Amino acid sequence: MSDAILRVTDLSRLFRVGGFRARGQLHAIDDVSFEVAPAEIVALVGESGSGKSTIARVLAGLYLPTKGTIVFEGTALGRRDSRAIRGAMPMVFQDPFGSINPVLRVGHGLLRALKLHRPDVARAQRFDEAVALAEKVGLTPGAEVLARYPHELSGGQRQRLGFAQALASRPSLILADEPVSMLDVSIRIGLLNVMKDLRDHENVSILYITHDLASARYVADRMLVLYAGRLVEEGCTNEVIANPQHPYTRLLMSSAPDPRLAPNDFEGDDLGEPPKVINPGPGCRFAPRCPLAMDQCLVSTPAMVALSPTHGAACYAVVP
Ligand SMILES: Nc1ncnc2c1ncn2[C@@H]1O[C@H](COP(=O)(O)OP(=O)(O)OP(=O)(O)O)[C@@H](O)[C@H]1O
Ligand SMILES: [Mg+2]
Repeated sequence: MSDAILRVTDLSRLFRVGGFRARGQLHAIDDVSFEVAPAEIVALVGESGSGKSTIARVLAGLYLPTKGTIVFEGTALGRRDSRAIRGAMPMVFQDPFGSINPVLRVGHGLLRALKLHRPDVARAQRFDEAVALAEKVGLTPGAEVLARYPHELSGGQRQRLGFAQALASRPSLILADEPVSMLDVSIRIGLLNVMKDLRDHENVSILYITHDLASARYVADRMLVLYAGRLVEEGCTNEVIANPQHPYTRLLMSSAPDPRLAPNDFEGDDLGEPPKVINPGPGCRFAPRCPLAMDQCLVSTPAMVALSPTHGAACYAVVP
């Protein structure tokens, strides 16, 4: 994919943990590489603690990477730049109150974002532009919604507002960290459709972070599966869903109560807790839980193997 807008290579972020005697390095993400194409929704899936938010935070410039390169719209972001360009990849959070000021009217935040990011919009035009932003995410009539306070919006409307604010800088990529996880299932679909609309009509790419495979399947063009800080599988959504190859992906799918996902031999197994990756050894991180683990898996990390031009898995047991 040569026209990628985001190219991440060997990205790692370590955290120092523990105190005086039990110091260690927690490998939140390790050697993660992936690309995002223009107008593409890429789902980043994995269980709690697998490093999903860490990837988003490093991309947003909230954390510095320990290692690796990020090339965004053709520009390499160095350790220093990543903070300076904060906002180039805006984030939508799980809890909308994390990014919305509850004591100011809805319009205030949008107008402020426009003032900050859109010098091309004259002051007199800002209100109309804010109304247009609100309507792009289905907050209609925009002028009426802008006059409300955030608590006067439903949870779904607040998340729509989160997307409207993210859109204010006219980004080519939005980082959406569990944007629908706190919503009632009945309104989730509306928000997933907002993401599709932004992709189809605004040319925006979205890195959609979720632990919910069914929503990833519904909305994403491609999927990245993360386990304990490492990417274990990637591919077009239908390939990964119909033909999951990594034992972890298969385990993850068998634990998702979605009858449309492919059945497999892990049916009914308990996922248990993911490991905390403090001072990890050299082997595959999934090996201790893997029914297919071989000696080799304990001593070295498998590289991503191509199974098709658009599907890969990092596992010694997978035969291309
Ligand atoms: N600032 C930090 N300091 C130390 N450890 C951290 C920090 N941020 C994250 N971690 C650790 O890094 C690992 C990955 O965390 P992260 O928040 O990226 O996971 P996640 O996949 O987003 O999980 P969830 O689905 O629960 O949101 C976890 O073990 C977490 O405890
Ligand atoms: Mg998270």
